[in-house]
Amino acid sequence: MKVKNVGIKNDFLRHSQQKKAIFDENKKDKFIIKGLDGKKKLNGKISVAGAKNAALPAFAASILFRDRFCVSNVPNIKDVDSINALLEKLGAVVEKQIEKKYRIVTDKIKSIILDTEISKKMRGSIVLTGPLLARFGKVSFPHPGGCVIGARPIDAFLNGFQKMGAKVQNRNGKYIVSIGRNKKLKGAKIFFNKISVTGTETLMLAGILAKGRTVIENAALEPEIKHLADFLNSCGAKIKGAGTSTIEIIGGNLLSAGNKAYKIPPDRIEAGSFLILGALSADNLEITNCDPEHMKALINILRNSGVHIIEEKNKIIIKNNRKIKNKDFKCVDIKTHEYPGFPTDLQSPMAIYLTQVSGKSLLFETIFEGRLNYIDDLIKMGANIIMRDTHRIMIKGPTQLKGRELVGKDLRAEFAFFIAAIVAKGKSIINNVRYIDRGYEQIEKRLSDIGVNIQRING
Ligand code: EPU
Repeated sequence: MKVKNVGIKNDFLRHSQQKKAIFDENKKDKFIIKGLDGKKKLNGKISVAGAKNAALPAFAASILFRDRFCVSNVPNIKDVDSINALLEKLGAVVEKQIEKKYRIVTDKIKSIILDTEISKKMRGSIVLTGPLLARFGKVSFPHPGGCVIGARPIDAFLNGFQKMGAKVQNRNGKYIVSIGRNKKLKGAKIFFNKISVTGTETLMLAGILAKGRTVIENAALEPEIKHLADFLNSCGAKIKGAGTSTIEIIGGNLLSAGNKAYKIPPDRIEAGSFLILGALSADNLEITNCDPEHMKALINILRNSGVHIIEEKNKIIIKNNRKIKNKDFKCVDIKTHEYPGFPTDLQSPMAIYLTQVSGKSLLFETIFEGRLNYIDDLIKMGANIIMRDTHRIMIKGPTQLKGRELVGKDLRAEFAFFIAAIVAKGKSIINNVRYIDRGYEQIEKRLSDIGVNIQRING
């Protein structure tokens, strides 16, 4: 695979090795974690990486640029390697310049076919389809893969493309979406029946090169969308309303970034997971490089439950009074909601929290129909959980969790198992780790730096 390196040799080697690992399905690591038995012993600073779910649409947006697109604060994770590999297979040149900074040139793209094997690894691959269709008039792709947390249909994307004048076909399990030779997508009014994050990103990016005005109604409000739209506007795009439920895009020509680089915003889901871990297991923890403004739902809920949280500009500090035990925190009901509500991606870490606090909490997962399948393992660890239906559970706390062997069910639930293992009494082994490196960089180093007894055993 061609990776042109303009940076440090070691960086190049590690990057190439990581890329090789993406395709090495047999290599599955495991983690051994020694639990703290509910004690609050973690201390120090943990830094938050750039957001996975902001990096993927940013790499996709590179296709809309006539010249190079530079991006910084890129997390060192497998999903980024996968989207780079997809871009390279299309003919783009992806250069890792220095740690966390990439330069992408897409004017040599020759293919409009997304590689099936890589696309099946992550949902975020679908965001490439909007820019590819808008720039080259055609795109072919499989149903995207990613975490199995529900059916995850793509009707909103396909309907949107059709409204913009494209023809959608499905041949041998692959979608082929085309506008026709030398034609452009047409601006259109698109209403989402269900709010979709990647759907909003994909159609917003497609609208940038379409003819005329595209309006997306009932759009997702995630801060990553506004952050990207602001940057694209500074490069010539005309996007209004990103960050609200109605986004208007006036289509135009290819974009140009000049000397500017897009900086990936901090990962609010990673920061939130660290905050939950800190609330349960830290004496004094500083979560740095994060934006508390994007984490209001979680911070508010934890405060209601009794956690002492200090918010600073790019930092959150948890100071746990030693006299306060987890059982002194109050139960809280959780209902996941699109941003700015409680994120579905923090639902599983929050479930661990609720097993430790006093009282009965109702947890209602409203976004995905298959995102509670980690519960059985939690019950085996000693949690008192009643499953009401596939969307709702009742958690009664506090319970002492006991370490055991676990296998992650999806990216966020796998990290939730890390939290459970840290809180538990005894040793846990998280086997067959498939997800964690997709979304959390150097997790064992960052956790051990704050006092977690964690060891990675290479598969
Ligand atoms: N939906 C449809 N039709 C569509 C698209 C979505 O019915 O065409 C439904 C989904 O089935 C779901 C709801 O709409 O019930 C919301 O799905 P959405 O499209 O917003 O999810 P996504 O874009 O596939 C992104 C994140 C997820 C995160 C969700 C919700 C990326 C790459 N993924 O997924 O992140 O959980 O938004 O916030 O941005 C993760 O990072 O681990 C992860 C799963």
